[in-house]
Amino acid sequence: MRVFNFSAGPAVLPEAVLQRAAEEMLDWRGSGMSVMEMSHRGKEFMSIAHSAEANFRQLLGIPSNYKVLFLQGGAMAMNALVPMNLLGKNRSADYVNTGIWSSKSISEAKKYCQVNVAASSEDKDFTYVPAQSTWKLDPQAAYLHICSNETIGGVEYHWLPDSGDVPLVADMSSNILSTIINVSDYAVIYGGAQKNIGPAGLTFVIVRDDLLDRALDITPTVFHWKEQAEHESMVNTPPTYGIYMAVNDRSRMNIPFHLHDTRLNDSFLDGAQERGLLQLKGHRSVGGMRASLYNAMPIDGVIALINYLRDFEKHHA
Ligand SMILES: Cc1ncc(COP(=O)(O)O)c(C=O)c1O
Repeated sequence: MRVFNFSAGPAVLPEAVLQRAAEEMLDWRGSGMSVMEMSHRGKEFMSIAHSAEANFRQLLGIPSNYKVLFLQGGAMAMNALVPMNLLGKNRSADYVNTGIWSSKSISEAKKYCQVNVAASSEDKDFTYVPAQSTWKLDPQAAYLHICSNETIGGVEYHWLPDSGDVPLVADMSSNILSTIINVSDYAVIYGGAQKNIGPAGLTFVIVRDDLLDRALDITPTVFHWKEQAEHESMVNTPPTYGIYMAVNDRSRMNIPFHLHDTRLNDSFLDGAQERGLLQLKGHRSVGGMRASLYNAMPIDGVIALINYLRDFEKHHA
């Protein structure tokens, strides 16, 4: 009997993902071994790592001038690694303080650079995001850091900050893949995977490739983004099982899917419309279908879609 687990992370994983992982535990697709036992450089695991990255890129629409790194250390390690990798010749960085996670980022960054707190909502116990008009940004800052969703206070940005020419860095640990974002609006996006992507142990970094030359000499090799980007996150052993589990862990908000026989696409959409199921056509860059299940979608809508999918499958079996 599975419970409804509302944990803030590590968090609930889709049952289908856990079941598949259980089925593949002793023998991953005829390899005769568990994913945990594979060499990270062997062809089996390389195929898992490549498809994890390809899926992540597709889900978020990550442009080709961004590198995706799958690292260890957690989002908290990034509090040190962001300044180490991005300061370059600059001495200072801007931070907006919206809660406990921003505060931790600020304290850690202070070990490496001068921190300018451009805005803070501490005056009201971190219950809001200060309006951009009140921010005191430094145009010479190495970067501007925000936490896009404060997991503890429950405060989320619903608008995109304007950082001018200064690279915008976001800790998206707890809202990554919960909504559509334009990755190009950010210079760096990072977070721990253990909320919306997979199990604990995996840390993701999405970094624009023109920023890879700014690391301080003291940056540890395994956390040096350029080194890791050049070695497909395999300078050392990556969190292999976390990467494997992330493969199937799709967004619960937007569910793209394809019919086996794409010639049936139009009749699928026509039949859906007859049942009052609209806007199921996939985005033109992905093709196929897409069901978006935002908060206001009633459960009856989901059930109607499932019933239609079952009927359609039966009819065309
Ligand atoms: C917004 C945010 N940032 C950072 C962290 C720290 O992540 P980790 O435990 O992976 O270091 C958390 C963890 O809950 C978080 O919610």
